[in-house]
Amino acid sequence: AEDNEGTVKQQLSKLFETSLRMTIPDEPDLEPLVVKCTGKFGDYQCNNAMSCWAKVKGKKTEFKGPPSIGQAIAKNLPESEMIESCSIAGPGFVNVVLPNQWIAKSIQKMLERGIGIWAPKLPVSRAVVDFSSPNIAKEMHVGHLRSTIIGDTIARMLEYSNVEVLRRNHVGDWGTQFGMLIEYMFEKFPDWENAGEQAIGDLQAFYKASKLKFDADPVFKEKAQQAVVLLQGGNEKYRKAWSTICEISRKEFHQVYERLGISLEEKGESFYNPYIPKVLEGLSNQGLIVESEGARVIVIEGKQIPLIVVKSDGGYNYASTDLTALWYRLNEEKAEWIVYVTDVGQKLHFEMFFTAAKLAGWLPADEKLYPKTSHVDFGLVLGDDKKRFRTRSSEVVRLVDLLDEAKTRCKAELVERGKALEWTAEELEQIAEAIGYGAVKYADLKNNRSTNYTFSFDQMLNDKGNTAVYLQYAHARICSIIRKSGKDIEELKNTGTIVLGLPEERSLGLHLLQFAEVVEEACLSLLPNVLCEYLYNLSEHFTRFYAECKVNGTPEETSRLLLCEATAVVMRQCFHLLGIVPVYKI
Ligand code: ARG
Repeated sequence: AEDNEGTVKQQLSKLFETSLRMTIPDEPDLEPLVVKCTGKFGDYQCNNAMSCWAKVKGKKTEFKGPPSIGQAIAKNLPESEMIESCSIAGPGFVNVVLPNQWIAKSIQKMLERGIGIWAPKLPVSRAVVDFSSPNIAKEMHVGHLRSTIIGDTIARMLEYSNVEVLRRNHVGDWGTQFGMLIEYMFEKFPDWENAGEQAIGDLQAFYKASKLKFDADPVFKEKAQQAVVLLQGGNEKYRKAWSTICEISRKEFHQVYERLGISLEEKGESFYNPYIPKVLEGLSNQGLIVESEGARVIVIEGKQIPLIVVKSDGGYNYASTDLTALWYRLNEEKAEWIVYVTDVGQKLHFEMFFTAAKLAGWLPADEKLYPKTSHVDFGLVLGDDKKRFRTRSSEVVRLVDLLDEAKTRCKAELVERGKALEWTAEELEQIAEAIGYGAVKYADLKNNRSTNYTFSFDQMLNDKGNTAVYLQYAHARICSIIRKSGKDIEELKNTGTIVLGLPEERSLGLHLLQFAEVVEEACLSLLPNVLCEYLYNLSEHFTRFYAECKVNGTPEETSRLLLCEATAVVMRQCFHLLGIVPVYKI
């Protein structure tokens, strides 16, 4: 960790901070505004001159305008090996060019010590990421796929940034639907205690059948409602029946997680149930909960409807559970950042109970401060017809079927390319899986999550364009360049030197160096597509480099092989953060 010097932006910011203090001594708290250059006059620029001018204008000062402040900021920069030259542009922007040698040295250091030294430093040390969170007895559908994929990536990015992440599966295991499910199980499978799991089998069909009966048969309905009361009252038989049903769902969910390489810990709605009364009592004592039409509610200013926390029948709901879970995460788990990943349809729910938590003083009103909550929302998954993704028989699409198909298609493609003859059956299987599942994930992650996205196998499995398949090929090609050199890359890391001679080498090097700040941005904005864009651009930088710079058998071979290796390392780290298994040959 001592090797981690911070992102380029942070390192430059430190230098500019010193300079600003010298330039405008009356304003010791100026925050340096350092950004990547858009133009070609530098790599980074400091944009403080204008706002500094606004502060000193009218006072007795040596400055004649923003450009002269810019000059002074540049002049006052401390001596540093990371600055090649400075120039002033427009209204006082200070452009900085980084020295090739420094870029090269930083990359080499990463190769020696590992990509961990490029981890961004975030302002929190423990976070909850609440994601996936399907509902028991209902199939996991593509919406849950989005939550699972996006949430896992966010968790991975935070973990890489040395944040302790509590990965939480907030499964819907405590609804009124359990009354009918339990009664139906009693009726259909009297032997449920011994053979319930095997007998029920397809839980979704079971759910449908019991719902039909619930709607059609008033006597059954009455019984089901009684069952809810018994279950929530802690009746042993009903508790046992409930957990039998949950267990079936759990196994199904688990299969999907395993295939996608996702780890998360289940703390379902039922977990928080015992804490609800106390939490609501606290809020009541603060005068936040009032009576409204028989229900107990929290009034949220500016919203049409209040947040219901106790229904008129006395039962708790989604909101009472979420408020309590938030209380638990803040107070028992000491999380500083609580991130929820669900479809945009739940936006209002999150806004409402986040506001309630602020009213209660659990969270600071200022959004920039921690502890903090964030709702990571996402759009719909659409089919080719641009309508909500459904199968031909208009059923919801089963997640496992999608994964199966992605893999099958990849395998067929690889067989067609003759790989079945080259590789072992096991390799074929593994690589088809890595490419297929990776493609499904990447297709989801590469779009800004708030937009709807169209699910298309043809598109996501294309080996050209911004797809995981293309990126896997790009990475495998780099690995093959290194292999073909016959050089021991581990040894080169210790003995060789990177020299950034040609412009293509330099821009590749600079892009590599910007990895840390891209991950930082993706974390703070909770936008995985920022990382995807970086990865795709990296492969393009590499393509331009490789078109101009011969590697094997040239005098620059060592340096260029090291650049290849650095590119491969950063690509693999991107893959890792996106939950994609890299392949080393295709
Ligand atoms: N089970 C919910 C659903 O499927 C998602 C839960 C999200 N998490 C939360 N704390 N509300 O829509």
